[in-house]
Amino acid sequence: MGISMVAVAVGEKDIQGMRIAGQKAASVLEMIEPFVQPGISTEELDQRCHQFIVEELDCVPAPLNYGSPPFPKSICTSLNHVVCHGIPSSSKTLKNGDSLNIDVTVITKDGYFGDTSKMFFAGQPSVLSKRLSNITRECLYKGIEKATAGNKLGDIGHAIQDHAERSNFSVVREFCGHGILKVFHDEPQVLHYGNPDEGMRLEEGMCFTVEPMINAGKRHIKILPDQWTAVTKDHKLSAQWEHTIMVTEGEPEIFTLRKDETSHKK
Ligand code: MF3
Ligand code: CO
Ligand code: CO
Repeated sequence: MGISMVAVAVGEKDIQGMRIAGQKAASVLEMIEPFVQPGISTEELDQRCHQFIVEELDCVPAPLNYGSPPFPKSICTSLNHVVCHGIPSSSKTLKNGDSLNIDVTVITKDGYFGDTSKMFFAGQPSVLSKRLSNITRECLYKGIEKATAGNKLGDIGHAIQDHAERSNFSVVREFCGHGILKVFHDEPQVLHYGNPDEGMRLEEGMCFTVEPMINAGKRHIKILPDQWTAVTKDHKLSAQWEHTIMVTEGEPEIFTLRKDETSHKK
């Protein structure tokens, strides 16, 4: 794989652009948090995020019309056993105990992408759902911790897989993190499983997402007839957390850090 295929911030202009994109994406998740309550539809969550992204942030929501068939909404809302790419709908209304991943990607006026997601609960989550979400967030941070220059991509995947499987959960394999800069989905593919010291060597300035999808049951998924929604085959719960980061010689920079995260340890 040629290095030209890989999303690398080549200077201060790119880094500043990604900081702004990341902070804008993070602010959408902060804005929507109080609205994630029993009774709200995922359609209304989409509309609120769309309006905020366009009017307050002066950005474009990257999912809207993305791909083939074109994704019809501005955010992904993945409920309970939905692994990722759930489509907001007026017929999906949150109930007490539901877990929901909201995945936001914005494109700034300068053309930079910020991509981030987190888990929310409507009302009171079950013990399992809370534990799955917590372990998945820990998987994200354990992966990010390995994103230092000189390490390999496999170090990231291994850290995630090890933590998930020690917790008796499983790692979804059909989707991965991705290079990102002025392109939504670039090289490299950032697998959430793997072996230490294998795969591409990480270099300073590489920008990519880490976005583990972890299942309470088996890892297998299927895609619904809408050609987007991925669900667990066994219909057990799934969780996902995502950040957009940049490799440095020291601790990676997390572009999409929110105010509720004091450091990458949380
Ligand atoms: N935000 C997702 C990711 O993390 C991609 C969503 S593409 C969409 O890569 F079309 F489903 F929105
Ligand atoms: Co992503
Ligand atoms: Co995303």
